[in-house]
Amino acid sequence: MNKSKIVLKSHEYIEKVKNKKIAIDATCGNGHDTLFLATLFNHVYAFDIQPLAIKRTKEKTEHLNNVTLINDDFNKIYQYVKENVELIIFNLGFLPGSNKKVLTSDYHSEEAILNAYKILNDEGTMIICCYLLHQGGKEEYQKITDNLNINNINFDQEIFNNGNEILLYIRKND
Ligand SMILES: C[S@@+](CC[C@H](N)C(=O)[O-])C[C@H]1O[C@@H](n2cnc3c(N)ncnc32)[C@H](O)[C@@H]1O
Repeated sequence: MNKSKIVLKSHEYIEKVKNKKIAIDATCGNGHDTLFLATLFNHVYAFDIQPLAIKRTKEKTEHLNNVTLINDDFNKIYQYVKENVELIIFNLGFLPGSNKKVLTSDYHSEEAILNAYKILNDEGTMIICCYLLHQGGKEEYQKITDNLNINNINFDQEIFNNGNEILLYIRKND
């Protein structure tokens, strides 16, 4: 698979994380990010609300023993993982190669992100890939950045694909 620029950049940031013990993929989709994380971290918890995404990710990672797949909503991450998490990635939007009706924007991603931020350890990193072109994408990005600002959470942002894709990069000790 050819990785898009936003995905390549997100993986660059993931590689920079110092202690690579526990990572969370909040939206495992087709399993590309989970597989990448599993090569670097001691353990990866991968969530997706769609059974098809869990199936696809399982197919990519079943040869590994450091991946836990969880078919649930990213708003419930804290029910499964309470440990000091070093990295959380939210790759938003819809499942490529499937229907486009299951959208992260319909599930209060802005709240899930704030809740996930709480289980990051003091040096933790969060990466959020926002896609603005599909329905609800722009509003989702706006709600997320508004929520981060209201809660005084600093973030950097990088723009890709003529402004249609935006990477948000958060380091907790910033
Ligand atoms: C852009 S895809 C993720 C791509 C994936 N990271 C990869 O490497 O292939 C977005 C995913 O978010 C999932 N999703 C949508 N709402 C969700 C929710 N509330 N909780 C968890 N996953 C959700 C979709 O099912 C879809 O698989």
